[in-house]
Amino acid sequence: MCCDQSKYTQNNTSVIKKINEIASFVEGLNLKTHEELEDFKSKYKNKSGVLNSLFNEFKNIPNNEKKEVGKALNDLKNTINKKLNSFEANNTTTQETISDDLTKNTLSNSIGSCHPLSLVENQIIKIFSSIGFNLSEGPEIEDDWHNFTALNTPEDHPARDMQDTFFVQTNPSKLLRSHTSSVQIRHMTENNPPIRILSPGRVYRNEAISSRAHCLFHQIEGLYIDKNVSFADLKKTLLFFAKSFFGEKSKIRLRPSYFPFTEPSAEVDVYWGLKTESDYRITKGTGWLEIMGCGMVDPNVLKNCNIDQEKYSGYAFGMGIERIAMLKYKVDDIRVFYENDIRFLNQFSAQL
Ligand code: DAH
Repeated sequence: MCCDQSKYTQNNTSVIKKINEIASFVEGLNLKTHEELEDFKSKYKNKSGVLNSLFNEFKNIPNNEKKEVGKALNDLKNTINKKLNSFEANNTTTQETISDDLTKNTLSNSIGSCHPLSLVENQIIKIFSSIGFNLSEGPEIEDDWHNFTALNTPEDHPARDMQDTFFVQTNPSKLLRSHTSSVQIRHMTENNPPIRILSPGRVYRNEAISSRAHCLFHQIEGLYIDKNVSFADLKKTLLFFAKSFFGEKSKIRLRPSYFPFTEPSAEVDVYWGLKTESDYRITKGTGWLEIMGCGMVDPNVLKNCNIDQEKYSGYAFGMGIERIAMLKYKVDDIRVFYENDIRFLNQFSAQL
């Protein structure tokens, strides 16, 4: 396969000639099989091959001729390497294809991912399930009684203006539920206390769409009705939730507020901190963020559901899932949750 010249002769002109001859011989070789490749490597490339023994003898070349001989030697090395590279380039694909399973699907299997709103919803459900809350769901197209009247918000009550509602039909009135509090009424009407439920779901409001508001969003409602339920129970439960969701060091505060269906009512803030500039922006410089509304269920609501308000009391709370997901994932525009942009959704693929 090769001219067996690996030693320098006395005459360096002929040394260079010999090296060049080896180089052009190598260049002319056409390696086809793996056996030929191995043979080539052992003759030219390996430790005992031609190239190495020529380099070993290089030290015997007189200094003034080293430059020229060295160049010829480097050229030979490059020619040998090129031959090896071109064999690899020509053979890799054929070899892989042949050794591959020909029945294998060429598209890789990738599993889908949970939507960030589902991730947050599932996490909230898990936390409340661990302290005995069960799921209870209701319809998205509601009637006036369940969405408003039974929740102590009769017709013409000014509090109806708090929620700009989409009406589907008048007389009898049908609407897209404006909050998940309607599920409280459905559940209390059909079940006896003790009641401890969580109701996640979609809600609708006739809002102008912006980075902070949408006409469709998601809420989770909580309701606990039993004997001797107090405001302290509500506070302790919400603190447990905040610590489980936002971290052990979380603090909450309750600010007096107004909702027709709870008395007293409060809004809950979680302490977010003021470490970065964006913390200042989202907390309006206070370090606190509002995450939900809550309160003690108004006795009128219990009465509307035929629950003895002398015997039972309870608390309720309702939170927006988008708001919590925006905090958790540092999303500053609510609209991205509904656009289904795969570049956004793929960021959550590692979480289930
Ligand atoms: N339904 C209220 C809303 O959508 C939120 C809410 C406030 C729910 C207080 C409650 C509650 O259960 O007790 O704005």
